[in-house]
Amino acid sequence: MAELAGIGFRGVVALDGPSGTGKSTVARALANRLATRYLDTGAMYRAATVSVLDAGIDPADSEAVVEVVAKMQLEVSTDPDDPATILSGRRIDAEIRSAAVTAAVSAVSAIPAVRTQLVAQQRRIIAAAPTVAEGRDIGSVVWPQAQLKVYLTADEQVRAARRAGELGSDVGTVTADLARRDKFDSSRAVSPLRRSDDAVEVDTTFLSVDQVVDVLTDLALRRVSAFGGA
Ligand code: DC
Repeated sequence: MAELAGIGFRGVVALDGPSGTGKSTVARALANRLATRYLDTGAMYRAATVSVLDAGIDPADSEAVVEVVAKMQLEVSTDPDDPATILSGRRIDAEIRSAAVTAAVSAVSAIPAVRTQLVAQQRRIIAAAPTVAEGRDIGSVVWPQAQLKVYLTADEQVRAARRAGELGSDVGTVTADLARRDKFDSSRAVSPLRRSDDAVEVDTTFLSVDQVVDVLTDLALRRVSAFGGA
């Protein structure tokens, strides 16, 4: 199945949705099934936030943030088995998941000039090879021409429980944090989190990762054959 699926897909899958919907796990597994690259755009906004915090800058000071982010040296590995985020030659995979970064990333990612810079880098990466890209605005802004656009959702309590399980933290705190970030990410002026009209919505509340990946693999292969294998 894996090899067969890999042979058939040469396009881009845009996977958007809020945190805790299983997006990252699903995106990596789907990239493996389809034999594509994997791009975690949230990791790029998190890396920008690390550069801001390392420079001792207040994430609310947008002018200073833009200056630091413009100079950062960010590279990402798009291997779904080993996605790496590298800032100035240093792997920061653990650091980007810290509580301090999670608390500041919505403010940094809401700054228009930061988004322009990172979207340009994301487009260069996606243009280079078939990719499953995950984020908030892939189908709407980064790659609207994606062969398949998916918007993952899940019940809020289930999303918080999943995130708490990953982080080993208390569900109450995670619920409050998710609600705060969702509100911020959905209401910002530039590229807010929203489902594109042509995205397929998949509710993952009652589905396992494997079930979601099966559904999406099927959809991706059908889209490609419908579009003549482009
Ligand atoms: O997916 P994540 O939790 O790692 O994303 C971190 C933050 O980055 C999230 O609060 C919203 C922002 N983000 C964004 O604005 N646009 C994207 N394409 C991906 C993430």
